[in-house]
Amino acid sequence: MYVQAIKMKILLITTHPNFEKSIANKTIVAQLETDFADIEIRNLDKLYPDYQIDIAAEQEALIAADIVVLQYPFYWYSVPGMLKLWMDKVLSYGFAYGTGGDQLKGKFLLQSLTVGGAKESYHPNGYNHFKVEEFLRPIEQTAYLAQMKYQEPVYTFRNFQKEGVWNSESQVSAQAMKHATVLKERIRAITSSKKTAVKEFVSEWFRHFDTLDGNGYFVQYLAPEVQMKFPDSDAFTGHDGFHSWYNETKSGFEGTTTHDVQNLKVREVARHHFELDMEVALKGTMTTGAMVDLTVAESWTLHWDELSDRPVIDRYLVSLKK
Ligand SMILES: Cc1cc2nc3c(=O)[nH]c(=O)nc-3n(C[C@H](O)[C@H](O)[C@H](O)COP(=O)(O)O)c2cc1C
Repeated sequence: MYVQAIKMKILLITTHPNFEKSIANKTIVAQLETDFADIEIRNLDKLYPDYQIDIAAEQEALIAADIVVLQYPFYWYSVPGMLKLWMDKVLSYGFAYGTGGDQLKGKFLLQSLTVGGAKESYHPNGYNHFKVEEFLRPIEQTAYLAQMKYQEPVYTFRNFQKEGVWNSESQVSAQAMKHATVLKERIRAITSSKKTAVKEFVSEWFRHFDTLDGNGYFVQYLAPEVQMKFPDSDAFTGHDGFHSWYNETKSGFEGTTTHDVQNLKVREVARHHFELDMEVALKGTMTTGAMVDLTVAESWTLHWDELSDRPVIDRYLVSLKK
């Protein structure tokens, strides 16, 4: 099934200076581990007790992930020091931002944190003055700079535990279970959203165009009566039209090509029916030696076929961008 082929990979980065004594974070991490078989959990304190972060290993884990979850206890209105160190070292220039630094582009960033204080305190009249979201702005902006899809954070209050003084152990662990349930639902909402799957499909589609893959890959996603129009040909309908256009196009190129999708907009116009708009920067070398470097505007209509559980393109219009 298509959805399985593009199963989203979840990476959980967690830190807790005293994980063994933790109630809330320990419970939440254990719940996620139980429910998501393929989740990768990286407990930074266990991996790097000497604070010598393996930057390459961390970046590799990020590259492989579709959803990055940061799980941590709220410390001094921020992330614990280990997570800050991880950010400083791993989200480097050329990787997360700056020239060539788009390795995190399009990945989801979801923060999950346990807050010690009560809700009333995170209010202009409370002793913490500001809302939790305000304290989280630096991470929100980090996600934007790294071109990640920042998600509304998941957090709960009253996790600080001091028996007989402030929250019992059973209260904290019961609400950590609830926190985990909300977090799991939020992750599932990301992984199962058809809109997300459509976006993933677009990336996959162009990865196959990059390598000028066989016709079969593309045809399986084209409706039998698909309407297509490319700048270099007349409009046509159906698979035969695609075969002749693609065979000719493919034979004109030398080696591989690159298709960089920009400004992708996906609208669900009716249940499981989508309209897509995007710009695609195409680069390649022709057999004549000429270089191709142009940007096209693409407009697709697509529906998600329930039976085969895969996207089907109904209309595919490409025009040269002015
Ligand atoms: C060093 C330190 C700093 C803390 N800073 C805050 C804070 O700024 N705001 C807050 O609400 N709770 C704060 N807390 C409380 C923790 O957030 C809370 O104990 C933790 O979320 C409970 O999770 P656990 O059971 O996994 O340890 C702090 C705790 C420690 C030890």
